[in-house]
Amino acid sequence: MTSHLTIRPFFAADVDAARALFRHSIEALAADHYTAEERAAWMSFADDREAFAARLFADCAMVAEDNGKLLGFATRDGAVIDFLYVSPHVARQGVATALVDALEREAEKQRIAELSTEASHAAKVFFASRGYRAASENVRERNGVTLRNTTMTKHLERRV
Ligand SMILES: CC(C)(COP(=O)(O)OP(=O)(O)OC[C@H]1O[C@@H](n2cnc3c(N)ncnc32)[C@H](O)[C@@H]1OP(=O)(O)O)[C@@H](O)C(=O)NCCC(=O)NCCS
Repeated sequence: MTSHLTIRPFFAADVDAARALFRHSIEALAADHYTAEERAAWMSFADDREAFAARLFADCAMVAEDNGKLLGFATRDGAVIDFLYVSPHVARQGVATALVDALEREAEKQRIAELSTEASHAAKVFFASRGYRAASENVRERNGVTLRNTTMTKHLERRV
């Protein structure tokens, strides 16, 4: 249970826990939407530690933790939400909601008018539930395997 959910900025020391969580999250939470071959290709992005870490050093990178245990992480670069991964042990307990709330708040502070993301099929309902609308279907390739996702966008409130 997420009894002490904390959202804080990402630190370099989080990289290896984030790589492990990335793999677990895809393996367990994307299994209804992507084949084993597709999930393996997706997960393989974490094999290159340097490239993976570079993506985590984004404009805004937040992690969710409970007493030092990583529960999820999310990043935003400019107006694009890039990473969003939650541990299968705490799925449907509001961890992604807390992470994306934090990313959106930071984006609003920077007066970003619209956010977009390439939502996996596993994340489409999550993003739709918070006001993101499908804009286009994408076909990406990783290690010779085709991965499909959906660009979704949301206008942010301008808070004075
Ligand atoms: C998509 C993901 C980030 C959601 O994380 P989460 O912490 O479980 O999401 P939340 O608990 O904050 O969900 C909030 C709402 O989103 C919707 N939602 C989230 N996951 C859902 C699912 N699997 N099926 C249907 N609705 C879902 C629900 O409306 C949910 O509210 P509810 O639980 O009260 O019904 C998580 O499943 C994940 O990491 N998936 C695998 C990796 C992935 O696809 N990442 C996205 C890359 S773009």
